Amino acid sequence: TLDIDPTARGPEIADEMYGIFYEDINRAADGGLYAELVQNRSFEYDRVDNPAYTPLTAWTTTAVAGGAGSAEVVGDAGRLHERNRHYLKLSLDNPAGGAYGVTNSGYNTGIAVEGGERYDFSVWARTDAGSTPLTVRLADGTGELTARPLRLDVRGAEWAEYTGTFTATGDSTTARLTVAGGGSGTLALDMVSLFPRDTFANRPNGMRKDLAEKIAALDPGFLRFPGGCLVNTGSHYGYEAPNWERARSYQWKDTIGPVEQRATNANFWGYNQSYGLGYFEYFQFAEDIGAMPVPVVPALVTGCGQNRATDDPELLRRHIQDTLDLIEFANGPVTSEWGAKRAEMGHPEPFGLTHLAVGNEENLPDAFFERFRQFRAAIEAEYPGVTVISNSGPDDSGSTFDRAWELNRAADVDMVDEHYYNSPQWFLENNNRYDSYDRNGPRVFLGEYASQGNRFGNALAEAAYMTGLERNADVVRMASYAPLLANEDYVQWQPDMIWFNNHESWGTANYEVQKLFMNNVGDRVVPSEASPTPVVNGPITGAIGLSTWNTSAAYDDVTVTSADGEVLLRDDFSGGDAQWTHATGAGSWSVQDGAYVQSDAGATNTMVTAGQASWSDYDLHVKATKRAG
Ligand code: AHR
Repeated sequence: TLDIDPTARGPEIADEMYGIFYEDINRAADGGLYAELVQNRSFEYDRVDNPAYTPLTAWTTTAVAGGAGSAEVVGDAGRLHERNRHYLKLSLDNPAGGAYGVTNSGYNTGIAVEGGERYDFSVWARTDAGSTPLTVRLADGTGELTARPLRLDVRGAEWAEYTGTFTATGDSTTARLTVAGGGSGTLALDMVSLFPRDTFANRPNGMRKDLAEKIAALDPGFLRFPGGCLVNTGSHYGYEAPNWERARSYQWKDTIGPVEQRATNANFWGYNQSYGLGYFEYFQFAEDIGAMPVPVVPALVTGCGQNRATDDPELLRRHIQDTLDLIEFANGPVTSEWGAKRAEMGHPEPFGLTHLAVGNEENLPDAFFERFRQFRAAIEAEYPGVTVISNSGPDDSGSTFDRAWELNRAADVDMVDEHYYNSPQWFLENNNRYDSYDRNGPRVFLGEYASQGNRFGNALAEAAYMTGLERNADVVRMASYAPLLANEDYVQWQPDMIWFNNHESWGTANYEVQKLFMNNVGDRVVPSEASPTPVVNGPITGAIGLSTWNTSAAYDDVTVTSADGEVLLRDDFSGGDAQWTHATGAGSWSVQDGAYVQSDAGATNTMVTAGQASWSDYDLHVKATKRAG
């Protein structure tokens, strides 16, 4: 018998209890959530990012109608912007007609287009020929055109942006984009871009709609971004490189402003990241989906398996100042330096940043804390309302973890970010992990967790575990499954919550569990206790949710009964978990949207298998019968 005491008040559950952790891993950004369809649009791919890269990765040279010429990627003083280091130089030799240029193959099997949809093309260009005709074509893998070609005219020796729009004549998942110049002379190209007009929330430079919609459907309470080990880039390449040379640690200031002025960088996960999806876009996305933004900044101590900490005080000082500037960018008035930049990008209102994490999985706890304290002191002095989140290192147990927690407690940290990836069995066996956590110590942000797999059993184990998080909602204030996204052709890490390729996306069973919990966050926990003796409770008023997860397969009959023993709902698990059938009951029962609805004496009472219900004037008893044997 599960004894539910409706009069006792359990801990309150924060609105932002369940959220998402977005990291640019598995090509989550370029070729994924970032809707740009051209790969390596600014010719920045480099061996430093990945030994297999060349500056022309994803491009091939193309002669159109007998055209001729040569192509070279250069990084001279004629570049478009100091951060946008390289561009394509085409030497054209078409005195008798034809055109010469390059063709992009997009991601996965190519560029995916849908018949009838519009696609916005843009390119930055300059020419030394006075005027150069530009042919832009979209054709599928067999060479058949998938839209009417665009004809543009590049004029003058100064960089300028040229634009046009395609309307796709049919569906293709193998399209290629060709940009070719006619005539003679030198044509310089950079930022060759193709965007679907239809992006999530109609944002320019926006997000791929199917992916963003799946994320939005989760109804996440918060968005932790941009990593993960991604923010610890320094562990592979050094914290800093001079100017805008590649392989800097992830720094938010590199990711804002006009896209053609943003850097690209070597990604921790072994590819080039464009920063087209940058801090402004993340804040805006969080706002669009109603999630609290939780950025993570590097602490200049390497986590993620590395053991180094910077001893450069000037570098540390600058990163602390950058963090203060980030808060000003998010929250400052338009009259402030960084608030003005936010306004210039189209968002004069503040983004309302309240939480920020310093560091990720730092495995040198003492070195980390020395620096964390300096970050926190500076932030608290200027922004006392901002919660600064610390972390407990890479493991969920062991001496590093113990030391990190000792330091977190001693420093009276508000919130500690814990991460773990374990077997489903571990999740089932550790449901009580937080029962014994100190109620007066730091609260927990479970920033990353997953059972190792995308099978139904994994999702079920996570759901069971989440009931333990929720029961301890006074200690565990926020939790997010990780990682969120994976392109099936570029996988660094699995399992993942949402998978995709260039034209489709699909949620896993784990996704459905997260969606179920995020869309049904209760106000508070109703304490309950399993016991062999039935207990009669007082009436439940207000709303109550009920979820059952038969993780052990040991139970074959669960009923909800009224005080006088009338069986109101029954689940015999014959149709899988939580397949409720109603037994006899007062009023008339019907199924609506998967919930059992009772119309009784003019009132409608709803009971759902998980989530909220409006149920009044009943004494409810949940009885689970153990399967024989
Ligand atoms: O979620 C994938 C990785 O797991 C994250 O980047 C890191 O924080 C953790 O080790």
